Amino acid sequence: MTSEVGSLNVALLASGGGSNLQALLDHSTSADRGWTVRLVVVNREAGAADRARAVGIPVRIISTKGRTDQEISRETLAAFDEHGIDVVLLAGYLRRIPPEVTRRFAGRILNIHPALLPEFGGRGMYGMNVHRAVAESDVAVTGATVHFVNEAYDEGSVLAQWQIARHPGDTPADIAARVLEVEHRLYPAAVDHLCSALRADIIPGRMADIRLDEPPDVDRTENSPPLESNEEVRLSARSLAFPTITSSWAWVRHCRTEVGRSSRPEVRRARSETEESRSHRCPMSRSTRK
Ligand code: GRF
Repeated sequence: MTSEVGSLNVALLASGGGSNLQALLDHSTSADRGWTVRLVVVNREAGAADRARAVGIPVRIISTKGRTDQEISRETLAAFDEHGIDVVLLAGYLRRIPPEVTRRFAGRILNIHPALLPEFGGRGMYGMNVHRAVAESDVAVTGATVHFVNEAYDEGSVLAQWQIARHPGDTPADIAARVLEVEHRLYPAAVDHLCSALRADIIPGRMADIRLDEPPDVDRTENSPPLESNEEVRLSARSLAFPTITSSWAWVRHCRTEVGRSSRPEVRRARSETEESRSHRCPMSRSTRK
């Protein structure tokens, strides 16, 4: 299957109960988001698989036990090809992703982590291990991170973070519950952000951080991410400071028009560099898409 014009095909990978998977499914079906979940991959029977079946999404069980990276990646990539997958989202997937898969989907594969990376990340840092470590530390804030997945655990670039306060006396369970709540709001917003950039053929900038218990739908213009070298990327990141956090094609188009109109020399320079190198830099330029 290939993507319908204007809609990206998404695969979700999960191992557990799938509350993030549910949040992503609910979000993607509640309006036209420009992306559609086409496939769920689990490494074993899990609540996540049942949630997908309940709404008629194909589920593939790809066991990782006792299998080589090569076997796992061959089966995984074949399933992705079969469903024309453009974007991969890990939602509580507890197995390492083989390098062949992360390389094929570089810039198009995300994970959500229940802490503020790079703190409390790396091998062994998953589930309650993370929240226990946070509870035993003296940090004042924790939160959730959406990041790109590469070959190293939890080390891909950060796309979005949401900070929440860690109160003295919080138990690991208290922290876990509050972090999970923001995960369910942060992940869908970050996926909108990535997919809107991919559809507009630009590299997404990091979303402006959401702090403490700030609702996600406020104007965060003052809280924009730092300037990046490429003006077009910066403008795409700025779209997240738009009063509503949901992706807006009109806004992305507006940003691109602004770049086109700008008379500032650095903007014109960035634009021409962008035109020249777009096909090399964009993880899903038209020429590389399947
Ligand atoms: C979440 O805390 C997520 O950050 C981590 O795994 C957990 C999955 O929970 N990667 P759920 O299965 O989505 O409820």
